[in-house]
Amino acid sequence: MSIKDYVVSIIKIDKVEQAEVEKLLAVPPSKEMGDFALPCFVFAKTFRKSPNIIAEEIVSTLKHDCIKKAEAVNGYVNIYLNEDFFTSKILTEIFNDLDNYGKQNIGQGKLALIEFSSINVAKNPHVGHLGSTLFGECFSRLHENFGFNVKRLNYLGDYGTQFGKMITAYLKWGNKEDVELRGVDALQELYIRVNKECEENEELLDECRNTFLRLEQGDKQIKELYDWFVKISLDEANKIYEQLEVKFDDYRGESYYAQFNDKTLKMLEEKGITKEDQGALIVDLNKYNLGVVIVKQKNGASLYATRDISLLIERYNEYRYDKLIYVTAVQQKQHFSQIFQIGRLLGLDYMDKVHHASYGMISLPGGKISSRKGAVALIKDLFAESTSVATEVLKERQTIADNIDELAKSVGIGALTFSVLKTTANKDCVFDFKSAINFDGETGPYLQYTHARCRSVVEKANIELNDVDFSLIKNAFELTKELEKFPQVLVDAFNDLEPSYIARYAISLAGEYNKFYNNNRIITDDAKLTKAQVALTKIVKEILRKCLTLLVIKTPDKM
Ligand code: ARG
Repeated sequence: MSIKDYVVSIIKIDKVEQAEVEKLLAVPPSKEMGDFALPCFVFAKTFRKSPNIIAEEIVSTLKHDCIKKAEAVNGYVNIYLNEDFFTSKILTEIFNDLDNYGKQNIGQGKLALIEFSSINVAKNPHVGHLGSTLFGECFSRLHENFGFNVKRLNYLGDYGTQFGKMITAYLKWGNKEDVELRGVDALQELYIRVNKECEENEELLDECRNTFLRLEQGDKQIKELYDWFVKISLDEANKIYEQLEVKFDDYRGESYYAQFNDKTLKMLEEKGITKEDQGALIVDLNKYNLGVVIVKQKNGASLYATRDISLLIERYNEYRYDKLIYVTAVQQKQHFSQIFQIGRLLGLDYMDKVHHASYGMISLPGGKISSRKGAVALIKDLFAESTSVATEVLKERQTIADNIDELAKSVGIGALTFSVLKTTANKDCVFDFKSAINFDGETGPYLQYTHARCRSVVEKANIELNDVDFSLIKNAFELTKELEKFPQVLVDAFNDLEPSYIARYAISLAGEYNKFYNNNRIITDDAKLTKAQVALTKIVKEILRKCLTLLVIKTPDKM
């Protein structure tokens, strides 16, 4: 029960519903006016008395341990809480069921599909995919926290004429050892080269188209090469996923769903929502302000949108999910609005289960890896640079660790992750290595550091935390109030799909704890007080760990 609910429960006014009290009870503008104030003006009519007399009468009934003082002032009941009462009550409740604190089972028995990361084969994942990966993993973990059975789907960009080009290029100029050694980098070079040559060489372009056709027809040699490219791409991506501890359940991509395109097109035509336009087949969504979607090109080829319509239909047929969330950059908002509108026009009765969550642009202010030069920043370069800046910072701080390289990775990549997820969805995020890897700012490393500090306090104290008497703790009301907010923060983040709520919350919780830590000696001569304060530290540590984990950030033991 929240502090407010508790206070409401002890305010009993004749002929007035608790719900009414709940609605009226507010936090006054300044602390001098109490922790809560109840305006009595609306009761004047019912009781035929002045608001202040009513306030005085209510004050006289408010005798409870949880209230230090209540006063009638200008028609308000100003309530001053007994802070130690609540500190003790709330901390005891949290501590007694710490593992489950913030968890809920609203998703029990329900299946949530989160589609995210969705990288493209034979291309290096870039900063845009990083956003999708981080937001998607955060949503997945949030749904698990709320009891959902979660499936993580990586919808690979693995289809299209570009693969005809890739394979043709490899057959012409490729070198097995080089591709084995340099992986996606080598493939991308081949791709750039073939694209350039195709511009001037119509014959080569035809050859590439033909290779793609052979791929679609299942030509053994071509298919083997293609599968090899997919494997190389996934091996590369897995290095990123391993670092973030992200595991996918399903990697079926565009090529898998393309096989349903004929069925999809037939369905669209039968519903009468397509029409011909200069040889192509289109769905006109201008009526909905969503423009026109081409579903079949003049030459018969399908498009990204066509495959997404197939995906929409087939995925539900297969999974019968309760909820599906696509996670992409905001640039694809229009695309998904179109696909969803087509879904509604097709009469799919599960469109209310389907959501698109997007995030804004992630950019870098400059330096070594800048997104300004036209080239998109690659995830592997971002990871390497964050790690190297973190290594410097740890050196400056003279940090000693068993595995300093691992620690630098956790800190550097954690800083990057925090910067992305603390950004309100759809707002742009500018990532600056130096300020993000600062232990004193509102950063990932600051949270990791506070977590490690809590952990070391608990470890050093090395006491059994049974029969804890939290009533001995003084001056921890602000910190306690912060701890009490945690479950609601998760609910809000879940409902609004806003990791930034968790990020901001973690920062203010860490701030409150650090204040408490600086103002109080945790280990004292009083064994019982020490025990209570260590237990409080353990609560903070656990909740920070939960926040960081939800934010896809590692929590090193020592820093
Ligand atoms: N592979 C695409 C890209 O890199 C993202 C795919 C998003 N998901 C989808 N169902 N269209 O932009």
